[in-house]
Amino acid sequence: MARPKLKQMQYALFDSLCQAWPKRLGLARDCISNGGSPVEITNLTTGKKINDEKHELALNVLEGLSKRPRGLPSRLFYDDKGSELFTQIMDLEEYYPTNCETEILQKHSPAIAKHLANQEFNLVELGCGDGAKTTILIDSLIAEKAGFKFVPLDISEAAVQFLHKNLQEKYRDIPFPIQGLVAEYFQGLSWLSENASAKNLILFLGSNIGNLNKPMALRFLRHLWYSLNDGDYVLIGFDLKKDLDILYDAYNDKKGVTAEFNYNVLDRINASLDGNFDRSQFQHQGLYNVQTGAMESYLISQKAQTVRLGELDREFHFQPWEAIHMEYSYKYLQTDITDLAESTGFQILDNFKDEKGYFVDSLWQVRKE
Ligand SMILES: C[S@@+](CC[C@H](N)C(=O)[O-])C[C@H]1O[C@@H](n2cnc3c(N)ncnc32)[C@H](O)[C@@H]1O
Repeated sequence: MARPKLKQMQYALFDSLCQAWPKRLGLARDCISNGGSPVEITNLTTGKKINDEKHELALNVLEGLSKRPRGLPSRLFYDDKGSELFTQIMDLEEYYPTNCETEILQKHSPAIAKHLANQEFNLVELGCGDGAKTTILIDSLIAEKAGFKFVPLDISEAAVQFLHKNLQEKYRDIPFPIQGLVAEYFQGLSWLSENASAKNLILFLGSNIGNLNKPMALRFLRHLWYSLNDGDYVLIGFDLKKDLDILYDAYNDKKGVTAEFNYNVLDRINASLDGNFDRSQFQHQGLYNVQTGAMESYLISQKAQTVRLGELDREFHFQPWEAIHMEYSYKYLQTDITDLAESTGFQILDNFKDEKGYFVDSLWQVRKE
């Protein structure tokens, strides 16, 4: 008897997970030569086998739409179109985190770079996006004669490619090697463990940590600590708690780019899984949860409706005003940051804030002795 479509997918996913790790690396290595410094992109996620990607998406969507309350993992935002939309979000007047962190890096990069003056190390950026702010720090590191290899990592291949292109334009004779990694955070941490001999400065900017709830953030930071050496540095961008109107506007912008960023996930599901989500029948809303301290994004069904996903051979029935949770963006108190660092084995060296006190880049050092 033929297996139902979903079962076929689960078996295929299992098969693909059983493939040897080095084989995956070998499948997707792409070298670009640039002015003598090696520039390389390695895809750790799937070896770029289209079917693997589709199976993973299918399982994420099946799990997310079947559970109650419904919710989809936020990494689904970042296909090529989603990465492009996020770049537009960063340019919005209401989206303060980018300007705040740019201000912090412009003012404090020289002090951060001094910690690594005249040293050799890996500069690893987890969830790099377009990496525009990172070049501010890179300039300071070059001024301090630091010798580093830049390893930008992102789940979005388009983001890593875009960053490479920008770096090639900005640093014509790139004085440092680049190894882009297309990977999930935890795959990046495995890469770090395998390359543990070098000193490291890890960047986790743009409030990426805000997408993780407290247990996930603790797990991620403990894993990061385990992957690093005593004395390695970590710079993490935290969005601080603030006036609720400022938060609300940042996640419900007037131009509707954030709404489009959310609807794009429905388009992605339709295109990949033969779906018939009607985006006009879902309302986007960003809300602040005072108890958890998170901005939460939702797509809310405006009527009773049934969505069919042909590739899953499944229908999902939505009641009027039933919501799909799309994203968390946790906001922090300064004491939360201290607790997080202390309970995961890091020492806080400095907290760099913007003038308004909206955002902090916290510089930590790994303590193992
Ligand atoms: C909010 S954006 C911030 C980008 C950049 N850090 C900045 O400050 O501008 C989050 C980035 O993390 C990436 N990302 C999200 N989930 C990820 C995951 N699980 N593993 C790796 N990258 C991820 C996204 O593709 C996106 O580029």
